[in-house]
Amino acid sequence: MMIHVPGVVPATELPEIQAQLAAAKWSDGRITAGREAQKVKNNLQLSQDSPVQQALAPRLHRWLEMSALVTAAALPRRVLPALINRYHDGMHYGPHVDNAMRLVEGQGFVRTDVSATLFLSDPASYDGGELVIEDSLGTQAVKLPAGDLILYPASSLHHVRPVTRGNRYAACFWIESLLPDPRDREALFRIEGVINGLRRDNESHPALPILGMVYQNLLRRFSDT
Ligand code: NI
Repeated sequence: MMIHVPGVVPATELPEIQAQLAAAKWSDGRITAGREAQKVKNNLQLSQDSPVQQALAPRLHRWLEMSALVTAAALPRRVLPALINRYHDGMHYGPHVDNAMRLVEGQGFVRTDVSATLFLSDPASYDGGELVIEDSLGTQAVKLPAGDLILYPASSLHHVRPVTRGNRYAACFWIESLLPDPRDREALFRIEGVINGLRRDNESHPALPILGMVYQNLLRRFSDT
């Protein structure tokens, strides 16, 4: 399941964020890549002790957690700190799969169930840089407006096409979900969609409490791993 989440970052905040990113000091992106990914990763990222990373990552994290659509689709248990990256001058990231487990200080290993890319540059300001995601339903090239986010299965093979003009800034997040199985997440996401649709039509529809009960009881059962 791939979900486009528009407007995660408020539009009024973007110019200041983009100015911070343009002035930041960037490091080689290979330092956080696994052995296979290192061979194909060619980008820049902010190191964890960079002042821009420390100022920006918690803000991006908060906006992600405030999104009702992200909550409904990913059901996050834990969200890893953002990895903020930059591609320019032909930089790209070849086909790879994200590490299944990431070691987080103080938390041990966190399983990555859902990957998320938050686009931070205006798409008209750069050429290339599409995020290309392959899953069982086919291949999709994604290039979203600044402030928008794409959620996709962390298990999918994906790559970033070379950026041939301008700068592509983005933040990557990994989410450990309450529901490890993507089929369970999708089922609950669909039920929640039906509940929201019914509620919009008729707040006192008699099916709502039953559907709510089914949702909660499936969540209870699916998360019992
Ligand atoms: Ni990746």
